[in-house]
Amino acid sequence: MKVLRIVYVVSIFLISKSLSSKCTTIRTGNDVFTDCHGRGFRNVPRNIPNDTTYLDLSDNKLPVILNFSFSGLKNVSSLKLSSSQISVIESKAFSGLVKLTSLDLHNNSLGIHSLPDHVFDSSSVLRILDLSQNYFRQYPEKVLEKLSNLERLSINGINNQIFGNGFRSLRKLIYLNFDPCIITRIDNNTFDAFKNTQLKELILECKVTYVEVGALSPLQSLESLDISMNLHVRVSNLLELLNGLIDRNITSINFRHNFRTSAATDVLLASQFSMLGAVCVKEVDLTRNQISVIQAGGIHLMKHKQCLEKLILKENEISGERTILLEMVQLISLRWLDISNQAMILVKTKVRKNKYYGRRLDITGTKYSSGRLTYYFQLPHNLQYLDISYIGVKGTGLSNINLTNADKLDNMNLAGNKFKHCLGHFYGLPHLQTINISDFNCSDLDLNMISFMPNLKTLISRRTHLNVGLQNDVNGDFLKQLLGLKHIDFSDNGFVTFNQNMFISQYRSLISLDLSKNKFSKFPIHISKFSTLMKLNLVQNQIALLQKSDMKQLENYQRENNIKFELLLNDNHFVCNCDSIDFVKWLQETKVTLDKNRNYSCVYIDNSLKTTVYAYKHLEFIESKCLSKIWLTITIILVVVFLFIFTASVIAYKYRITLHFWYLHIRRRYRHYTALEGDSKEYKYNAFVAYCNEDEEWVCGPLVNYLEKTNGLALCLHDRDFAAGKLIMDNIIDAIFESKKVVLVISYEFLKSSWCEFELDMARMKMFQDNRDMLVVVLLDKLSILQMPISLQRIWNKVTCLEVDETICTNQNDNFEHLFWKRLYEAVVM
Ligand SMILES: *[C@@H]1O[C@H](CO)[C@@H](O)[C@H](O)[C@H]1NC(C)=O
Ligand SMILES: *[C@@H]1O[C@H](CO)[C@@H](O)[C@H](O)[C@H]1NC(C)=O
Ligand SMILES: *[C@@H]1O[C@H](CO)[C@@H](O)[C@H](O)[C@H]1NC(C)=O
Ligand SMILES: *[C@@H]1O[C@H](CO)[C@@H](O)[C@H](O)[C@H]1NC(C)=O
Ligand SMILES: *[C@@H]1O[C@H](CO)[C@@H](O)[C@H](O)[C@H]1NC(C)=O
Ligand SMILES: *[C@@H]1O[C@H](CO)[C@@H](O)[C@H](O)[C@H]1NC(C)=O
Ligand SMILES: *[C@@H]1O[C@H](CO)[C@@H](O)[C@H](O)[C@H]1NC(C)=O
Ligand SMILES: *[C@@H]1O[C@H](CO)[C@@H](O)[C@H](O)[C@H]1NC(C)=O
Ligand SMILES: *[C@@H]1O[C@H](CO)[C@@H](O)[C@H](O)[C@H]1NC(C)=O
Ligand SMILES: *[C@@H]1O[C@H](CO)[C@@H](O)[C@H](O)[C@H]1NC(C)=O
Repeated sequence: MKVLRIVYVVSIFLISKSLSSKCTTIRTGNDVFTDCHGRGFRNVPRNIPNDTTYLDLSDNKLPVILNFSFSGLKNVSSLKLSSSQISVIESKAFSGLVKLTSLDLHNNSLGIHSLPDHVFDSSSVLRILDLSQNYFRQYPEKVLEKLSNLERLSINGINNQIFGNGFRSLRKLIYLNFDPCIITRIDNNTFDAFKNTQLKELILECKVTYVEVGALSPLQSLESLDISMNLHVRVSNLLELLNGLIDRNITSINFRHNFRTSAATDVLLASQFSMLGAVCVKEVDLTRNQISVIQAGGIHLMKHKQCLEKLILKENEISGERTILLEMVQLISLRWLDISNQAMILVKTKVRKNKYYGRRLDITGTKYSSGRLTYYFQLPHNLQYLDISYIGVKGTGLSNINLTNADKLDNMNLAGNKFKHCLGHFYGLPHLQTINISDFNCSDLDLNMISFMPNLKTLISRRTHLNVGLQNDVNGDFLKQLLGLKHIDFSDNGFVTFNQNMFISQYRSLISLDLSKNKFSKFPIHISKFSTLMKLNLVQNQIALLQKSDMKQLENYQRENNIKFELLLNDNHFVCNCDSIDFVKWLQETKVTLDKNRNYSCVYIDNSLKTTVYAYKHLEFIESKCLSKIWLTITIILVVVFLFIFTASVIAYKYRITLHFWYLHIRRRYRHYTALEGDSKEYKYNAFVAYCNEDEEWVCGPLVNYLEKTNGLALCLHDRDFAAGKLIMDNIIDAIFESKKVVLVISYEFLKSSWCEFELDMARMKMFQDNRDMLVVVLLDKLSILQMPISLQRIWNKVTCLEVDETICTNQNDNFEHLFWKRLYEAVVM
């Protein structure tokens, strides 16, 4: 028995231990936060620390909350029981929670019977109660009656149910939200029960279709009214509700997202719009109400127009009547005006150049000066924020715009208006800090467009075709006067490169630069010139890798300026191959802050898609691949070079004579280039006589005597006519070129001489070049054809061959009777 008890106690202990380990408790000062949410509890756990002040039991499965579930938790002030499928709460369930001020029961299965009348008897200090997203079909009036301290209540909004005594007793109620809300009618009696409450904030995201003008009159303390998401009521009707609040001080009126009927629009008559001035309201939000027209005169009729500080009209379809915008200037306290995103075209009138045209946007006057129209816009003089983005400007160009009264404007959003050129200036914006001109087509750009904004700090210019507009701005004039510019967004402008001087005035001011979605293939700026830049966005460009010099500059920049530099590089065209080994290393090792955990996709060495982290881990593999690649390259180059040399030498050998001839020929031309003309016609010599020294006696004797002295021909003899100081080869080639004929005096000795063959070859080439027979062979010795050089044998039939016999050979006394001489003469002069 005793043993059993011990086992029982121990097991209880273990269970509670394991349960308690499911919740986490955090203590900060006097606050003890115990988090048991989403732990799968089926009962309220027993061992919650008794000093807990904040208890979260949401997202469990607690269909029944039993009596005394929270006893001992005296210090709990906030209890969260939402989303726990609660359908029954016992009478004494919250007994002991004496300090409970906030109870969240939203998103359960509670109905009128789930809450016993006395369930909150002990929770007299409850101030916040959330019963929304439950199944109430009647309001739990009896329960509410006890909650005299309740300040904030969220509960289902039930259609056709009047608010009874329960609500009447919520004397301290300041916030009431219906969620979900299926209330369709708001009439003069609906809020009677709240006459004596303090209700300041009322939220009616319902299904309202019908409202009565006096419905809000009982709400004497109302400060903030939110009637949004009622899909079947026009804002023009809702505005009439303000009749019940005439002359009251209201902080905000929020009529957003009403009237979602397709193919229908809402027209606000001047009398309706002026209701916004029947009350003294600071902020009005009319976002998305399908308003197509606001009738002129509405602002003029507003009684408390000096109260309005913030007006939001965005996401409507305001198109036709626009003079309401002219009247805005009367809203002297207006600080914030947002009329962005008008689905339809606001500017329809085409501007004719040389005429005054007042019907365009909120123009109060135009002036035609220096060939360009200047528009004068008058703004409410306290305006600080103006959002006219996406109001549908299309097909018109920018003009000079002079904003008067805009001394306080510091943020102007003009994005999404497709001005077809940027040939205009903005004037009158002395304090503007932020301008958004995204989507202008600045292919045609006046470089002074934004020059007159001395305090500009942020320039957002996305998709503005600046690559075209700035291509000739070599001096950086576009940004030159903007010395305080800290943030520039030039993303999606098609930039491939920058002009060097683009940011010349921003080197000491620029903090962030967004160049994403351009077409840069290299690191686009000289970072070392900047000194305050902290963030550069290069996402979605076409960079393959950073060069060594860029990486070095980045390292130096970060070190020298002691800046924690952030570089965004995701979505580029990185490669992880032999060229980028240094880059892949740098990515992992640099102190520069990078995005995407430095894990960018890249084209790997085998052309597959990998990541830079992968490549870094396999760096050795890449390096080895690259090494073998280098060797392969070297081998290939060597083989190619060898083959080339080999082929060249074979060819050169085969055509060595031709090459040699041409070489000498060209050299000759080069040497004689001035005397080029006419040397084909006039020969200096009748013949060049090639002979060897052994035959000199005969040549210089009889031959010269006969041809020169007797017949007056001019011969070229190497002994006599070769120019000194010239190469023999050049002399020979000159001689051949300058002579009409070449006489080869062939003897055994001549054939042995080294020049013999050369002279023969050159003469032969010249013969081919000129296509004429110019070779005369004189055989001094008895030689058969077969003894002749091969090259001579080949052309034997084109050669005049003269044989010399004994008598001629030993001609002593100038007897030239022999036929040989006559034939020689003929052969030479022919
Ligand atoms: C709170 O719990 C602690 C132990 O967890 C216990 O010692 C203490 O007596 C409890 N205090 C009260 C008021 O129950
Ligand atoms: C509850 O809070 C009070 C004062 O903050 C403190 O004195 C008391 O010890 C707490 N009770 C428990 C059970 O911790
Ligand atoms: C819870 O307490 C109420 C009121 O004391 C009592 O009527 C009810 O029977 C109790 N429930 C259970 C399950 O004991
Ligand atoms: C409401 O509670 C159910 C479970 O009871 C849960 O599945 C659902 O996500 C909750 N809804 C919200 C909006 O919290
Ligand atoms: C509602 O009250 C307003 C004035 O507060 C009154 O003009 C109007 O006639 C009333 N409507 C109905 C239906 O009683
Ligand atoms: C509204 O506020 C102004 C100034 O704050 C105050 O003078 C005036 O009495 C207030 N009107 C009402 C109805 O409370
Ligand atoms: C802009 O308008 C103001 C006031 O009308 C005028 O003083 C100023 O000279 C104008 N500026 C330019 C550049 O036209
Ligand atoms: C500027 O306009 C673009 C285009 O609409 C938008 O994406 C961006 O958020 C705007 N930036 C600011 C700071 O208003
Ligand atoms: C921008 O303007 C240029 C020149 O005016 C024109 O050629 C180009 O088509 C325009 N681009 C767009 C997208 O409208
Ligand atoms: C890098 O990215 C790849 C693919 O997105 C992923 O599989 C890998 O786990 C990442 N590595 C690291 C270290 O984050």
